[in-house]
Amino acid sequence: FYRFPLVEVRGVPLMSLIAQNWSSIWAFCPDPSDLLIATYPKAGTTWVQEIVDLLLHSGDAEICRRAPTPVRIPFLEITSPHPVPSGLDFIKAMKPPRFIKTHLPIQLVPEGFWENKCKVIYVARNAKDNMVSYYHFDQMNLTQPDPGPWEEYVQKFMKGTLSWGSWYDHVKGYWKEREKRNILYLFYEDMKENPRREILRIMQYLDLSLSDDIIDKIINLTSFQVMKDNPMANYSTIPKEVFDFSISPFMRKGEVGDWTNHFTPTQSQMFDEDYARQMADMNIPFRTSI
Ligand code: A3P
Repeated sequence: FYRFPLVEVRGVPLMSLIAQNWSSIWAFCPDPSDLLIATYPKAGTTWVQEIVDLLLHSGDAEICRRAPTPVRIPFLEITSPHPVPSGLDFIKAMKPPRFIKTHLPIQLVPEGFWENKCKVIYVARNAKDNMVSYYHFDQMNLTQPDPGPWEEYVQKFMKGTLSWGSWYDHVKGYWKEREKRNILYLFYEDMKENPRREILRIMQYLDLSLSDDIIDKIINLTSFQVMKDNPMANYSTIPKEVFDFSISPFMRKGEVGDWTNHFTPTQSQMFDEDYARQMADMNIPFRTSI
């Protein structure tokens, strides 16, 4: 398949197909009942999607499994000619309330989401694990730019030249606005540490009230192992021209701290120094181990 080149939209490098369709993406106006999940790629989008979808369906896995294939949750900015039909057309064919996914940084989220006071859930993951996950994903996702060698990938991540731009700007942009815009800001590491606590936070944010039994069921259905074996969660329904599973599974490791298997001590120190500079203006409580 072809890997889309990156084109800047308001200073953010995005896959060319997003740039081509930018005016219609930017013009999209959601319904006030629509729910947005926003993440930097590989921060735990699919995990939180699964949790939210099950919460919205009272833990009914069968309903979730009957959802449209190959993509369950429409992906706002992925539009034609991407081989997976998951963008605006898909959203517009659905009735509100809709559950929509985006990787756009906050300044590129269509303004209707804020004007209509839509609920927004943001998931953030520590920079090092997020980058490791993205590196493996960019190898197997044949629509993303070729990641190149690891050492160069680290530089691109730090410079913010990967698809969807700078991780640093992304996590800071949503963090800064979280209170004013009523964004539920979650951390991947917190979900690993205590999934029940984080699922209850999401439930409250969505104004839902479910029994302990249902919560137990959702904790189980959204565990790494169960999701890895669920074709509606592990993306095995995506055509192999898009995701080459012989390179890496989508549900790869699901751990906190896998970065220690990838960074050399020198790389880690260089990365930490640069991190301190890039994150100096905002104290976001990221954890690289739990
Ligand atoms: P790894 O590559 O580190 O394994 P996204 O959905 O944003 O693309 O993020 C994918 C990452 O989240 C992958 O990380 C994937 O394994 C991990 N993930 C997905 N579901 C998970 C779960 N239930 N528990 C822990 N990690 C999960």
